[in-house]
Amino acid sequence: MHNSMYGLALLHVLAVCNHSATAADDQEAVLMNRGRAALRDMDCARCHGRDYRGWAAPSLIDAVRDGSRERFERYVLDGDIVRGMPGYRSQPRLVTDLDAIYLYLRMRGRQEPASPPGPATPREAGR
Ligand code: HEC
Repeated sequence: MHNSMYGLALLHVLAVCNHSATAADDQEAVLMNRGRAALRDMDCARCHGRDYRGWAAPSLIDAVRDGSRERFERYVLDGDIVRGMPGYRSQPRLVTDLDAIYLYLRMRGRQEPASPPGPATPREAGR
């Protein structure tokens, strides 16, 4: 009797946890889809490569895995014109969806292994 009551209480706790995890997951999924769409619409892949895994410009997956959020924001908003990264501060879409973009890339970084070392800059890539 004591055991089965404990079991029921435990089941209840698990059900509650599962429920809130699902709600959080849904919210995260919505954000991630926004981030993915923003990156696609702004064509970051043109320089950062297919799936943003690096091409003429470095992998964005690695950038958010290894670098700070501040660094990410600074690059995206201000750019690095001299080295070929445009600043996006004047683009409302980027500013609005910055959190979603960051979350999406972080999520990818958690799921995927680091990419092999490749050309880091257009100069090194000979472009
Ligand atoms: C015209 C080519 C080009 C486009 C388009 C472009 N980037 Fe870049 N990006 C670069 C280059 C080149 C660098 C490396 C700059 C450097 O080494 O200082 C870079 C660097 C970055 C970095 C810093 C990476 C690090 O080392 O931490 C981030 C973050 C980034 N880009 C995000 C984006 C996002 C997000 C978009 C789309 C909204 C985008 N870039 C579009 C060329 C581009």
